[in-house]
Amino acid sequence: MADIRELMSFLDNSPSCFHAIHNLKTRLESQGFKALGEGEAWALEEGGKYFVTRNGSAIIAFRLPEVKGEGFILSASHSDRPTFKVKENPELETAGQYLRLAVERYGGMLMAPWMDRPLSIAGRVMVESETGMEIRLVNLDKDLCMIPNVAIHMNRKANDGYTYNPAVDMIPLMGSMSTKGCFRKQLAEAAGCTEEQILGYDLYLYNREKAKIWGAEDEYISAQGLDDLQCAWATMEGLIAAKPGKGVQLCCVFDNEEVGSGTMQGADSNFLESVLKRICACTGMDYSRALANSFQVSADNAHALHPNHPEFSDPTNRPVINGGVVIKFNANQRYTTDGITSALFRTACKKAGVNVQTFCNRADLAGGSTLGNISTSHVSIPSVDVGLPQFAMHSPYETAGVKDAESLVKAMIEVYGMSIRSASSGLTLE
Ligand code: CO
Repeated sequence: MADIRELMSFLDNSPSCFHAIHNLKTRLESQGFKALGEGEAWALEEGGKYFVTRNGSAIIAFRLPEVKGEGFILSASHSDRPTFKVKENPELETAGQYLRLAVERYGGMLMAPWMDRPLSIAGRVMVESETGMEIRLVNLDKDLCMIPNVAIHMNRKANDGYTYNPAVDMIPLMGSMSTKGCFRKQLAEAAGCTEEQILGYDLYLYNREKAKIWGAEDEYISAQGLDDLQCAWATMEGLIAAKPGKGVQLCCVFDNEEVGSGTMQGADSNFLESVLKRICACTGMDYSRALANSFQVSADNAHALHPNHPEFSDPTNRPVINGGVVIKFNANQRYTTDGITSALFRTACKKAGVNVQTFCNRADLAGGSTLGNISTSHVSIPSVDVGLPQFAMHSPYETAGVKDAESLVKAMIEVYGMSIRSASSGLTLE
């Protein structure tokens, strides 16, 4: 069964979305899932387990039923997190004294917690090779930079709602001027190539602090990337542990949720649709009929009742850490959940012996959005939005509960085993 230590090592070894997908892939391969290429012909076997990646930052893993499938049971989560992306020509100087690293915001992060802590750089580098170009994962894997705060004596307004300017306040310091040129040098070293061989890169800052369990009863886990790698990991472990069902079971992890999902590897792409259609073409399933007998769980972390600010939560739908999996509701369908899909998910949780909590935004707060309604705009499948309760969403060090990920794994095992049937009044269980 899912072990919190395995989640922690997954989080620590996934400093970028590319690393997260690489680690999921490795885990799937160790469990007998076979790699498929989008650019290759597919031959699928009944009962077979497969995965396909796109851009190295999104993955869809699936298991076919032992007889012809009747529908799709799928989960969707995301591999990316708000961070800072390293710009081209990133070396900046200050007054001829310091060397800084030019970065740009990726997604909507909490800025203050990025300060005064060791940071490093991870992502991918495109390296010139004999055959043309090679893509290499890199992690500079050292305490390389820091965004130092301004002293209270120099900024008396620091505790009065100070507004951080990303172009001024959030530029990490890397070294003294004598280290000029060190960025490309270190990058080349990490990529195992010469500086001249570097053709391009997608690199992001990450927090050097490792995942930790803490609290009076060791009840909390803090780490970077819990939103949404906690759900990506739990849904994937659920797929791995599930038994073959009547439907095709899929676990999708998309990229770019934090910037609106509108990329070729995001939820707002044809990735899922293309994979579902190819599964149908290979197995003789009827696409439209299969969609009618399908169900999606969109899994993205949820806000727990905050210890210092309980007033930000809805009065009756306020999930707590370690209270179980959260079902998210929104009247305007920013979350896909409705009465039927929440009932289906609750049925699975009941079977799994897992606690369910509910989340609604306080009626006067807008709240965030997620990827469920984006993926269902391409593939119209009844869907429920769920997540695991956490604090400090979009901080570089987020906090969740040690028990909740396992609850989602157990719930997903039951969800993947469900047999969904379309009925005139909506979905039903067989
Ligand atoms: Co998220």
